[in-house]
Amino acid sequence: MRRPLIKRLCLIFGPRHRLQRIWLILCFVSVIVLIVLSRPSSISVNPVALTVKPDIHASYRRLKQQALNDYLDLSSLSLGVSNLKEVKLCGKEREHYVPCYNVSANLLTGFINGEEFYRHCEVSKGEPYCLVRPPKDYKTPLSWPVGRDVIWNENVKITKEQFLSSGSMTKRLMLMEENQISFQSDDGLMFDGVKDYSHQVAEMIGLGSDAEFHQAGVHIVLDIGCGFGSFGAHLLSVKLMTVCMAAYELTGSQVQISLERGLPAVIGNFNFRQLPFPSLSYDMIHCAECGVLWDDKDGLLLIEADRILKPGGYFVIHGSSLSTKKGSMASPIEELAQKICWAFIAQQEETFIWQKTVDPQCYLSSSVQGIVPPCIEQKEDIPSYYQPLASCMGGTTSKRWVPIQNRTSISKFTPAELGAYGIQKDELDEDFESSLSALRTYWSLLTPLIFSDHPKRPGDEDPLPPYNMIRNVMDMNARYGGLNAAFLKEGKAVWVMNVVPINARNTLPVILHQGFAGVLHDWCEPFPTYPLTYDMLHENGLLSYLTLEQCSITNLLLEMDRILRPEGWVVLSDDARSIEKARSIATQIRWEARVIDLENGSDQRILVCQKPFVRK
Ligand SMILES: *[C@@H]1O[C@H](CO)[C@@H](O)[C@H](O)[C@H]1NC(C)=O
Ligand SMILES: *[C@@H]1O[C@H](CO)[C@@H](O)[C@H](O)[C@H]1NC(C)=O
Ligand SMILES: *[C@@H]1O[C@H](CO)[C@@H](O)[C@H](O)[C@H]1NC(C)=O
Repeated sequence: MRRPLIKRLCLIFGPRHRLQRIWLILCFVSVIVLIVLSRPSSISVNPVALTVKPDIHASYRRLKQQALNDYLDLSSLSLGVSNLKEVKLCGKEREHYVPCYNVSANLLTGFINGEEFYRHCEVSKGEPYCLVRPPKDYKTPLSWPVGRDVIWNENVKITKEQFLSSGSMTKRLMLMEENQISFQSDDGLMFDGVKDYSHQVAEMIGLGSDAEFHQAGVHIVLDIGCGFGSFGAHLLSVKLMTVCMAAYELTGSQVQISLERGLPAVIGNFNFRQLPFPSLSYDMIHCAECGVLWDDKDGLLLIEADRILKPGGYFVIHGSSLSTKKGSMASPIEELAQKICWAFIAQQEETFIWQKTVDPQCYLSSSVQGIVPPCIEQKEDIPSYYQPLASCMGGTTSKRWVPIQNRTSISKFTPAELGAYGIQKDELDEDFESSLSALRTYWSLLTPLIFSDHPKRPGDEDPLPPYNMIRNVMDMNARYGGLNAAFLKEGKAVWVMNVVPINARNTLPVILHQGFAGVLHDWCEPFPTYPLTYDMLHENGLLSYLTLEQCSITNLLLEMDRILRPEGWVVLSDDARSIEKARSIATQIRWEARVIDLENGSDQRILVCQKPFVRK
């Protein structure tokens, strides 16, 4: 009864060809790989899946070449077996390991004066790779929205002292009980709760309540040093996307805890380099006791904040350490703010708000003393982690210079906006439609059934919902954010970190415009997040792209394993060759993996994987 259907869903376990000799060589090499790697029950290979689909029309020469390449890949894998065999489980010291942020190694290399806390991937490069394992008492996070308010103590690294030294307002809203940390909800007794605070900010910019942020053009907020994300959690409830960004922290990490709560967050700081966002990205930048010394470095940090802020956007800071002498020119931030054309809006107690100018001419005005000039180099800026902070105003001649108050809709693009972003409506629609149909396929595949002898097929009726919750999703090659939009359309309770690979077309402005979270990232390097922080990783076309860029696919998959939580899902959609390569690596790193051929005549394959829950 299942036969014809099984034909439709072809599981490919070896490269498809009819050349017996090469096939034998391949088998031989795979067997060696398997024997050497074999650890009972750690790698499961399903012999039933050894279905080779003959492809009569393919050219002999091409197959021969491909088989040779595959053989070389496999034999280099097998030569590297001793290497691969060393990729075993990491020790306890790496439970919360973030490559590129090894402070002691950075210090040894000679980075000092704070630079040791910055991202230095070249320093971590030589470190042996291993599979980061979960802490001993790790538990699967509670599903959204319960998991937003209660997390498992053992899943994150935090000390009792950090708990008690309640720094920021948001940190105070936290209670530790037995093996759980709970975050006080808004209706708690705290009189300085985030809800009140959020109302206060809304009122200060002239709104009736924080439900009106959208009317004021505020859709997406960067929360620098977010405490443990409570402000963002509240803003999400009024449908504002809030991305938490904080420096790497060894313990009590704001980013780790936010992500554990299912709130968007990424490691980053800008003491030395620009942030991985294009100019004119955010409607509001928020900093509550965030530890940034804004008046330091002759205002370079404020200038960087200005660069990523949209015209008419708000800069909100809150903190007891701020000067209370507001009104007098004594406050150094106030002086700098004038020089970069920010208008002071309001102060209430310890909260101060400025607004970025809507007039790019302001930076040329001679009436303001010591004004910071616009950057001369005005090609569409492509920031990276390694661009130094600039001492000129960025983005002032961008076609995307539109005051946030003039925005009509975040889900739709006006013809003028399409022009400013240099995109066609067709491209956007196509990205959305194909992502929507892909998402429906993926979702129906996210079930343990996929790995059984009678696997789940795409399009089967009554797809089982994922038996595990999915909240934090990363689209590793996000294009226009189509997958994110599809998730919204389907009403899934997820948020998506939309990653735009560096050197690919920079579509990040289009993503952020829609109120989605996103960053630029170089996938030849580790991603700036803590281990076990994502529930699902998705890529479409990234593997084949990175092969062209000559990045290591093995390293990429190992990194994906690091950031994926146990029992999290990986969905790779790529050409058959890239998928085959990924599949062989996936089994080496113990993922359950299955290749799906959509059988629509294209070279496209899907690889669905699940990371096992390895204890020990
Ligand atoms: C950090 O670097 C030091 C010095 O190179 C090394 O001994 C240590 O194992 C590294 N830490 C981790 C977690 O890899
Ligand atoms: C924004 O709106 C204001 C008021 O409606 C208008 O005067 C201004 O020209 C608009 N600016 C842009 C860049 O569209
Ligand atoms: C086959 O399906 C994939 C995934 O949905 C899609 O990207 C591709 O364009 C399709 N190919 C053809 C020839 O229809």
